[in-house]
Amino acid sequence: MQQPSYAIVKRKQKDMFKEKILILYHSGAGSTKFTSEMLASQLKADFDVTVRHINFDFDYKKLYSYDLLVFGFPTYHCEPSTSMMDFINQIPKLNKQINIFFFTSYGLYTGNSLRIFYHALKIRKFNILGCHQFKSPASDGVLMLSSRIKYMFRFEKNYTKHIKKIIAQIKNHQTKSNTRKPLYKWYVPLNELAKYFAKKTYDKMRDNMYIVVDDCINCALCVELCERKCWTSGMKSPSLNTENCEFCLECIHKCPQKAIIYSKKMRAKPRLDKIFFSAKRKKYINELKTKKR
Ligand SMILES: Cc1cc2nc3c(=O)[nH]c(=O)nc-3n(C[C@H](O)[C@H](O)[C@H](O)COP(=O)(O)O)c2cc1C
Ligand code: SF4
Ligand code: SF4
Repeated sequence: MQQPSYAIVKRKQKDMFKEKILILYHSGAGSTKFTSEMLASQLKADFDVTVRHINFDFDYKKLYSYDLLVFGFPTYHCEPSTSMMDFINQIPKLNKQINIFFFTSYGLYTGNSLRIFYHALKIRKFNILGCHQFKSPASDGVLMLSSRIKYMFRFEKNYTKHIKKIIAQIKNHQTKSNTRKPLYKWYVPLNELAKYFAKKTYDKMRDNMYIVVDDCINCALCVELCERKCWTSGMKSPSLNTENCEFCLECIHKCPQKAIIYSKKMRAKPRLDKIFFSAKRKKYINELKTKKR
């Protein structure tokens, strides 16, 4: 058998001593997943990085085997997504401090989402190193508003600059810690009425969700993807129970046939699909490479 070269042995030894990072995210349409993967792509040279979507059967003891956690989640109605909060609320009391960095993806305005999440982590005694909010494509806006509003499809202007800033912060985590609480936005309670009506409208859209059976190819992707187990496989097409649905829009954006809709009007609207995100990936990976030089 051929012996591994000196360089390979050296690299393996170096890898063994790399710090371990777990990036755990919840993502509906895919922007939070996208940012999680962008962060991972820039961290993997220096760290042993694992990226995972949250799941409710997660073995929380595993959290202790990482040197740093990164949590990502979308903001829905100015709060962290319900799935992410459910996931956090299931974490048993920690018996060892764990370092954590977190971020949220948002379309327009985060309200006190970061602050709410900060408190949820503090109660569980996480050691918070920092947080960030990424303006991302608006998963709701692209389905509801005119496709001419390009802002709805964009990540923030300085997206790669902020990715780099966070990478630097994570790399420095042993020496520097930004434990500053996200500022309380006093004016958020004034939006309660708008939030109430927005939620009511979204609840109505959620309850109107259905499959255009003639378009469905019964691939069961919606069944597989939905973390909240709202879809059940069927003979002709899956069936939906919205009782546990948080209207994350994952099934709508990911259905390869655009067969899941909540109104005839939104049927032709563009989706934030694989093609959309792979074009963004290409653009930002190139940007990160060129700006490195
Ligand atoms: C039900 C729902 C509510 C939302 N509420 C807000 C909000 O209050 N503020 C905001 O800026 N964006 C809001 N958005 C937009 C998402 O935060 C944004 O599109 C985010 O990038 C989605 O991340 P994802 O693609 O990982 O799901 C909402 C989206 C949905 C589906
Ligand atoms: S993802 Fe779309 S095409 Fe596939 S089973 Fe669900 S509704 Fe049908
Ligand atoms: S059924 Fe609801 S919770 Fe499940 S993927 Fe679709 S929108 Fe999200």
